[in-house]
Amino acid sequence: MLNLSKEGLILFVQNHYGITIVAVLAIGITSLLWKTWDSSDHEDGIPGRLGLPFMGESFSFFSAVNSTNGVYDFVEKRRKRHGKWFKTRVLGRTHVFVPSIEGAKTILANDFVHFNKLYVRSMEDTVGALSIFTVPHKIHNRIRHVLSDFFSMSALSMFVGKFDKMLSERLDKLEKSGKSFKVTDFSSKITFDAMVSMLMSVTEDPLLAQIEKDIFDVSDNMLSIPLMIPGMRYYKGMKAREKLNEIFGGMIARRRSGEEYFDDFLQSMVERDSYPDDEKLSDQEIIDNLITLILAGQTTTAAAMMWCVKFLSESTEVLDRLREEQLSIDRKKPEGALLTMEDLNDMSYGFKVVKETLRMGNVLMWLPRVANHDCIIDGVQVKKGWFVNVDATCVHYDPDVYKDPTRFNPSRFDDIQKPYSFLPFGAGPRTCLGINMAKVAMLVFVHRMTGGYKWTLDNPDSRLAKKQHISRLRSGCPITLKALNKGK
Ligand code: HEM
Repeated sequence: MLNLSKEGLILFVQNHYGITIVAVLAIGITSLLWKTWDSSDHEDGIPGRLGLPFMGESFSFFSAVNSTNGVYDFVEKRRKRHGKWFKTRVLGRTHVFVPSIEGAKTILANDFVHFNKLYVRSMEDTVGALSIFTVPHKIHNRIRHVLSDFFSMSALSMFVGKFDKMLSERLDKLEKSGKSFKVTDFSSKITFDAMVSMLMSVTEDPLLAQIEKDIFDVSDNMLSIPLMIPGMRYYKGMKAREKLNEIFGGMIARRRSGEEYFDDFLQSMVERDSYPDDEKLSDQEIIDNLITLILAGQTTTAAAMMWCVKFLSESTEVLDRLREEQLSIDRKKPEGALLTMEDLNDMSYGFKVVKETLRMGNVLMWLPRVANHDCIIDGVQVKKGWFVNVDATCVHYDPDVYKDPTRFNPSRFDDIQKPYSFLPFGAGPRTCLGINMAKVAMLVFVHRMTGGYKWTLDNPDSRLAKKQHISRLRSGCPITLKALNKGK
């Protein structure tokens, strides 16, 4: 062991100046890194581990993304360690997960003013610069206003019949085949087909198949490194986007020249040509938002349908009561008649089942925003540039907000909820534009499934699909249908 007197030490330093400087620096940096890595940083009132500069807790985050516990596991683990409020750092950005109704209100009611949505470059490029997702406030208002045509009462009434017909035929076919099928695949395909038919009247292969493939590639490559190198995911997504641009651009041109006419959303957009500027969209705005509507509506609605089947399969009491309501609606209608908006209005228990599914399913787990300046959220100080993620999942599972939160209990919605306590569709100026279409699609689905069939859950595996920002089962929730009258 080295044993030096004071003089000896001075002599050693003089003789080994370089080595000593390096050693002191190394010890200093190591202890600094250790401190940032190991400490639970309370400096600004929010506990949490920011970890190493830039990387922070990125490895843990991406390992949760890649696991079958799902990405929310990352949040749950930190909440257990640090408490309800915590902060973390992922890829150079500080994130705070906001767990309260008050926090949700502060953020979502001040969207665009004190908080903004920030997309990663790859996502922005694939949905397009003129998508409602990415445009600034003023343009957002105009685009949102014009797009609401697609969700008018008359458009939704038409959607009910169309979707019901499609669904009834496909379920009937599946039941007759006697085969097991994955609810996720089924619901994804039918939501896509119904939306594309309503938006632009494409119902025929091979164009439908081409659009489906390109939308899949865009969606699958939305979170990728933005490098245009052949073979890379971003390249594939951007190429698919170019193709969609061409296909939708061609359709717009044919509608304008009168070569093609259909009574659909695209036609209503083209017919706005003579309207004032704030009442219409440019061709590129139409294209970017057609892509956006399909992306925003398909996977979310499909996942919600899957969770509905899963939760109902596990709650016989709820299923029986729901089925009774749906059969009573059927009994009032002529045999084989399609559902109407009035029928949906009679599904009061069905509607609560849909809400409870969305509360527990948490299709979008949290809503990310960035703070535009230093501010206080629910008594907690947050700095400019931090991500403040409205943690909808935490609010939906908070026992102080929803009693016995892990129980699938639609009757809890007999009571009126506090504002900002039910967030599956967000809130404020960015509330889901497709909220009514999603509810309608789910009610029709619930009606046909429970009023027409019994089913068995063919794989009870409750692990989640990897690498998904929308929560769904890894198994795809396979079921086998049996017509109700046969099973009785
Ligand atoms: C169960 C199904 C659905 C769920 C759970 C859902 C959820 C959401 C949520 C939470 C937001 C807000 C995101 C945020 O604040 O960061 C949102 C926005 C949006 N959703 Fe949905 N959505 C569903 C279905 C649909 C459908 C069917 C459509 C269209 C056909 C659609 C179109 C949109 C659009 C365009 C926005 C952006 C609104 C804006 O920024 O102004 N969604 N959705």
